[in-house]
This record gives sequence, structure tokens and C-alpha cells, in this order.
Amino acid sequence: MRAVIAAGRVPGAARALRAALGPRDPVLRVRALGLDFPGPLGLAAGFDKDARGTAVLGAIGFGFVEVGTVTAQAQPGNPKPRLFRLMADRAIVNRMGFNNHGAAAAAARLSRPGDVIVGVNIGKTKAVAEADAIADYVASARAVAGVADYLVVNVSSPNTPGLRNLQETDRLGPLLTAVREVIGAVPLLVKIAPDLADEDVDAIADLAVALRLDGIIATNTTIGREGLVSGAEEVAAAGPGGLSGPPLRERSLAVLRRLRSRTGDQLVLIAAGGIETPDDAWERLAAGATLVQAYTGFVYGGPFWPRRINAGLARRMRDCPDNETPLSDS
Ligand SMILES: Cc1cc2nc3c(=O)[nH]c(=O)nc-3n(C[C@H](O)[C@H](O)[C@H](O)COP(=O)(O)O)c2cc1C
Repeated sequence: MRAVIAAGRVPGAARALRAALGPRDPVLRVRALGLDFPGPLGLAAGFDKDARGTAVLGAIGFGFVEVGTVTAQAQPGNPKPRLFRLMADRAIVNRMGFNNHGAAAAAARLSRPGDVIVGVNIGKTKAVAEADAIADYVASARAVAGVADYLVVNVSSPNTPGLRNLQETDRLGPLLTAVREVIGAVPLLVKIAPDLADEDVDAIADLAVALRLDGIIATNTTIGREGLVSGAEEVAAAGPGGLSGPPLRERSLAVLRRLRSRTGDQLVLIAAGGIETPDDAWERLAAGATLVQAYTGFVYGGPFWPRRINAGLARRMRDCPDNETPLSDS
């Protein structure tokens, strides 16, 4: 992120990077949420928490950048260390805890027009009681609505106590309704956890359709630790937090499939969780994702990773021009 910020300060750098690395192949274009995405691969929330690098991140190949999670009040997040790499699994455990400068600061940074699609992901301020969550989300939504191409209500991060309780539909419905009221026509999505039971995934899908939400992002990190090859001691030493990367792939894909079969074509579905190769991205699109996002794959893959994914995806799409993918029947 430091390199991204530094590059952004060099005049003309974003333009030069975009010419070299940006998604250009027309086969990658996606029309969704009333927007024209240059490619389906986006950067998932949590990397550019404070909207400090959107232009450069767009230039190196991300078709869209989701900033945040931002909260209504600035907050420091959890004590360090709070991020651990499980190298053998190419995974990450994090308990960042929404460290961010606040929704208003992000909005001020985004007020200069950039040439990348920017979603803003909002969460609850830690110091605010669960009972006052709606007002807190609404304050964030108000602050960023004017600068967001789409808005995401994050109720799925494991590192803010009580946050995921807001996924219960009795609480989620009023929250989403209140946010929608203050953001006008800005597309609204909700981001869910992979740890939900299948019937809870279905209930959120039904709620999203009933409320005429624009979409769902599936998924956030998991609190599970299954299927790791890293040693038990290393995993225990990392401690609590959300696990991301390949160990999340199967469950995220299953949640996506469930959402698509439940909602038909009524929602935009953005797939995240364990995408690290062009085939992974392709598999999600074949399973019904409108767009895909990644975080951990980028961390391990480095600055040319988005370009590699775009190139591989474009090749697959050209092999299957009508999007009749070999995986779509599986
Ligand atoms: C260090 C780190 C910080 C994250 N912060 C956020 C966040 O602030 N808000 C959010 O919605 N998701 C956050 N995420 C979750 C990612 O956006 C993504 O949903 C998840 O990591 C699964 O994708 P991946 O396997 O490609 O990393 C974070 C992930 C990581 C690794």
C-alpha cells in the first residue's frame, strides 16, 4: 500500500501504469449496477481502507476498487500484530478491526474524480453500541453516498464484536432500509460471511430480493480453520481473526452457487474468497458471479497479479465467446 501511495504522488504515473497494465481487452467488459466495468476483477475491501490509492490500483488492472471498511468515527483498530501470513496455505489471518480515518475523510479523498469505479464499504464504529448500529451506518452512508459508485453494508467482518449478529434478517432488514433511504439511487449491496448456515444464506437472499437490493458480496473471511496445511502451532500463534485465501475457496463458491440458484437473475453477485488464478475467477463467473474480487491473491501475487488474471480470463473468454462456459452446467 505504501508503494501504491508513492506511485500516486508521481505525476502521470497512474496514466503510464494504466497504459501498461490496465484491463483493455473489450472481451472483459461487464455492464452491471448501471456502470461499465472495464473488467470483472475488483480489489476487495480492506486493502485501500482510506481511499488513498484508488487511481493506481485501478491502473494496475483492477476494474473496480472497493474502499473501506470505513466507519462513521475514525478509529485505530486492534493492537498489533493483527495480520499474519500462513505461507504454506497462501492464506492470511487478520484481526485488523476496521482501522480507518472515518467515512468523512474517505469521502473527501474520493471527491476528486478518478477514472476507476469505486465502491465504498461501510461498517459499525467499535465504540458504538450494537443497539445504535443503524444510526452509525446511516451516518457513514450519508457521508459517502455522493462519491460512491456503489455502497456495501458490511455485516460480516469477524473483528468487531457483535457485528455479524446484524446478519439476522430481523436486524438486517431495518438496517438496509435505513441506509437505502439516505443514499438515493446509489446501488446498495450487502456483504456476508461464509460461516452462515445455508438456511441463513437463503434468508438473506430472500430479504435482498424483497428489499430490491442491488446485490450481495459473497464472502468475507471465515472464523473457521479447517483444511489448513500450516502447522497447528503456527495457526494457534496467529490467534483469532478472519482467515482468507485458498482455504476459503470451496465455501465461498458454495455460498455463491446457493445465492445464484435462490435469486435467479434478480441480483448482482460479487464473488470473493480464495480467488488466486484465472481459473478461479472463471469458475466464479461460470457459477453465476457478475463480478469477482480478491485481496489475498493480490498480496501473494504482487503488483502484476491483476494483469495476469485479466490476461488469463480474456483468453478463456475468447475460447468460449458466448459465455457458455464448460463449467456452467456443473
Ligand atoms: C488484511 C485484510 C483486511 C480486510 N479488511 C476488510 C474490511 O475492512 N472490510 C471487508 O468487508 N472485508 C475485509 N477483508 C475481507 C476481504 O475483502 C475479502 O472478502 C476476503 O479476504 C476474501 O477474499 P480473499 O480470499 O481474496 O482475500 C479483509 C481481508 C484481509 C486479508
